[in-house]
Amino acid sequence: MIVAVDGPTASGKGTIARALSAHFGLPHLDTGLLYRAVGYQCFLDGGNPDDSAAALAACSFPDALLGDPELRSEATGGLASRVSIHPAVRQALFERQRSFATQPGGAVLDGRDIGTVIAPEAPAKLFVIASVEARAQRRFLEMQGQGRKVALADIAADLAARDERDRNRKDAPLVAADDAVMLDTSDLGRDEAIARAIAIVESARAAARD
Ligand code: DC
Repeated sequence: MIVAVDGPTASGKGTIARALSAHFGLPHLDTGLLYRAVGYQCFLDGGNPDDSAAALAACSFPDALLGDPELRSEATGGLASRVSIHPAVRQALFERQRSFATQPGGAVLDGRDIGTVIAPEAPAKLFVIASVEARAQRRFLEMQGQGRKVALADIAADLAARDERDRNRKDAPLVAADDAVMLDTSDLGRDEAIARAIAIVESARAAARD
């Protein structure tokens, strides 16, 4: 079974995808990490992330880069959002995501376009959302926990700018698939959000069996 978990940044989709992976015993791919690696590699190369050729060249990043903690920073998130605009970059990363999704037994993938582009046939699709305030607060606490110095207002402004870019790009914009189930985590604790996500996937699986 393919489980697609899409949504904006800091909506809780990563936490939910990891929990679904553990619960259903399915391998998990955080596709945002691939775009983050491209953005960071482009930065390391001294390239301009807004330039399609420079961003495409960065798609041949070494696999070891995926373990670099710098990939999790807000700055790299911004670079990822910028390189992800280019159709050539999306195409270069497509096969890797598609073959992960279609491996025997299924998989959980989280990102922006899993339910619409990477695996539109996925029987279980969640679109995880939360208010900008709730997302900024979560990211703030997460970054404080990592010992990073950040201002809540800066995080909120950054999230809003990334949402805007992700939603309005021409190629594979951040949009819910018609058959995705919306899960708003603004007022949900971690365990409750996970429990609801599991219930959504259980019912999608039951419907797919009928
Ligand atoms: O989920 P994330 O914050 O790690 O994603 C970082 C950026 O990568 C996001 O702003 C847009 C891009 N992205 C994408 O375009 N498509 C995906 N499937 C995943 C991420």
